[in-house]
Amino acid sequence: MINLNVNGQTQPLEVTPETPLLYALRDHLKLNGAKYGCGMGQCGACTVLVDGRPVFSCLFPVSSVGTREVRTLESLGTTERPGPLQQAFIDHQAVQCGYCIAGMIMRAQALLEQVARPTEQQIREHMAPNLCRCGTHKRILAAIRQVADKGQRLNAGALKERA
Ligand code: FES
Ligand code: FES
Repeated sequence: MINLNVNGQTQPLEVTPETPLLYALRDHLKLNGAKYGCGMGQCGACTVLVDGRPVFSCLFPVSSVGTREVRTLESLGTTERPGPLQQAFIDHQAVQCGYCIAGMIMRAQALLEQVARPTEQQIREHMAPNLCRCGTHKRILAAIRQVADKGQRLNAGALKERA
């Protein structure tokens, strides 16, 4: 039995220690935002936050999480009340097939929680590990810039606001 702190809730899970965090989230907790892309740390579709840092959850064993807080796309907002980055991705129609988007948003969220107004270069360097096979990078960057240009660091998302 492993206890995971996910999106503000402690979740007891019957999984082996080496189970990838992505499998625990998707298969056991039914949090399907993060996606399985390459399974090799090369695409970022599986990106979630662990104590505010983006990680490739396909490569991250649950035993390595410990007491740290895991956050997934589901923590940022809902269909009815999207978070700032989710709204910006909608505004810029940054989604084509959508497969990369949860990972993109979580990686951008990590940056914008740390840096109030990142430069274009900071944004590009930070987002470099995540790939979009549909080629909507320009729209994705524009969406992130829309939020960054407001000059306020993001908070931890809708769940934290309600807490
Ligand atoms: S699925 Fe994790 S990096 Fe590609
Ligand atoms: S929108 Fe299809 S992979 Fe990015």
